[in-house]
Amino acid sequence: MKENDVMGFLNEIGGKFPKAISFASGRPDNRFFKLKESLTLLLELLENDTSSTGDMATLVGQYNRAQGIIQESLKKYYKTDYNWEVNEKDILITVGAQEAMALAIQVICENGKYAVAFEDPSYIGFSKYANLTGVEGVNIPMDATNTLDLNHLEEQLKIQFEKGKPIKLVNIIPDFQNPTGALMPLEKRKKILELAEEFDFYLFEDNAYGIFQYEGERLPFVKQLDTSNRVIYVESFSKSLFPSIRMASVICPTEMTDENGVSYLKRMVEFKGYVTVNTSTLNQMILSEILKSSNYSLREYNKLKVQDLRSKRDALIGALQENASSLDYALSWSTPHGGFFLIVKTPFEITQEDVLTAASEFNVIFSPLHFFATNPIDIKSIRLAFSELSPEKLVQGVNNLITFLNHKSHERK
Ligand SMILES: Cc1ncc(COP(=O)(O)O)c(C=O)c1O
Repeated sequence: MKENDVMGFLNEIGGKFPKAISFASGRPDNRFFKLKESLTLLLELLENDTSSTGDMATLVGQYNRAQGIIQESLKKYYKTDYNWEVNEKDILITVGAQEAMALAIQVICENGKYAVAFEDPSYIGFSKYANLTGVEGVNIPMDATNTLDLNHLEEQLKIQFEKGKPIKLVNIIPDFQNPTGALMPLEKRKKILELAEEFDFYLFEDNAYGIFQYEGERLPFVKQLDTSNRVIYVESFSKSLFPSIRMASVICPTEMTDENGVSYLKRMVEFKGYVTVNTSTLNQMILSEILKSSNYSLREYNKLKVQDLRSKRDALIGALQENASSLDYALSWSTPHGGFFLIVKTPFEITQEDVLTAASEFNVIFSPLHFFATNPIDIKSIRLAFSELSPEKLVQGVNNLITFLNHKSHERK
């Protein structure tokens, strides 16, 4: 399947097989959306406005600064949850992480003068945007820890430099990566910063799942280790609030500049002004009111969601342990300490046709890992997204999956 069909396939297959239990989509569980509560906060803000000129209505309803208007609240959030001092002037508020990817690739790669690199497999929003706009993309495979292979990255940095198309931006998802669910080790976070200095590139740190850590020590974001302005940090609020908020916070210090001394942040704001004008002020105010009402802690706000994800992960692993012995080969799987995804290693490749067979005959849907890879050779694992399913469905889904794998294994003999 072509890379550009993946999103559509994953979104549509559930609708085509409504009886099947779907591990395909990494959507957040809507039981935690708190929509009415969020809108009530906004309503109260408007009702409490005592000005005769409707100042709050102007603030909420009007066009506004392209860079965004809730930097002060976000600064307090980073201080509260991560004890991290962020400068308000360095924050840009975008329409989801997707817009941030587009803006960063646009301003750093200078219309294809430079290439981008990304983990393979990875969230395809980044590589796909580069591909659509004619920016060369270099895929970097994972090593045994299921995180970026830095030796391979180093090799590619040299090759691309010699080719006259240096890699200028590298996409990483260090916290509970999509699709592998892996956490990038601390040593690797430090090493990649050294490489960025040595080979003069920037990192796009995509954090959509870091807040959903259910156990273990929290590792610093790569941006928190960055002493030489090499990282653009991007945090999506699609999973920590709800996807329709369409918002992300970008931290890109104004000191990060191109070779002519022009600030990347300034350039991104300039571009944004001609793409989305500004991120919906209505939505920015909802986020800001949510932050205020939760004492600026999104970790606290997401506490129940994190507990829920942990019990889902436990139910999933419990069911795998219970059922895997019925197979005539050893099945292995990852144990994620956060996020929405777990991967199961299979002894054979699972094709798109297998996915359709599993959905239509065995009532289970999942995503082979090669769906998320630009170089799908020899990837024999599947991704199970467990964020949206109840523990009962997870158990039933694993039963169905094991029955399918048994069928596939016998068929191959
Ligand atoms: C790693 C990663 N980054 C970004 C996104 C999308 O973020 P947004 O909805 O803010 O555009 C996703 C969505 O699944 C994701 O998995």
